[in-house]
Amino acid sequence: MPYICMRNTSNMVYITRKEHFNAAHKLWNEQWSQEKNFEIFGKCANPNWHGHNYTLLVTVKGLPNQETGFVVDLKALSKLIKEAVIDPLDHKNMNLDVAFMTGKMASTEILTVEIWKQLKHPIDALGCKLHSIKLYETDNNSAEFFGD
Ligand code: NI
Repeated sequence: MPYICMRNTSNMVYITRKEHFNAAHKLWNEQWSQEKNFEIFGKCANPNWHGHNYTLLVTVKGLPNQETGFVVDLKALSKLIKEAVIDPLDHKNMNLDVAFMTGKMASTEILTVEIWKQLKHPIDALGCKLHSIKLYETDNNSAEFFGD
């Protein structure tokens, strides 16, 4: 019997919206001494805060709509990201001003997880699925979260 490859041809498409925000933070573990905080976090432990220009990539997945060819209305997705994530974070101190970061380490990694939590259900309501959150803190450093 010849082997027949039964590929799944479901036409799942992944589409990404890019947004930007600027925010201040400090990396600091209250359980540690000042010396250990400076040793581990370096310049990111500066007591008077510092900021980054963040780039956020939100990728959703779904089947293209038969009539529009769209996985999602990108205007609606952009509005949702702006309201749930960008407006709360932009030009803010995420350690002090941002409700969904209160009491959490303000690392790029933790921020991707918390941004996921803000977007997951609203994106479901748009008729597609959140696939990943990728966050660039600098050109060289980024974190990515897939919800697991
Ligand atoms: Ni930093």
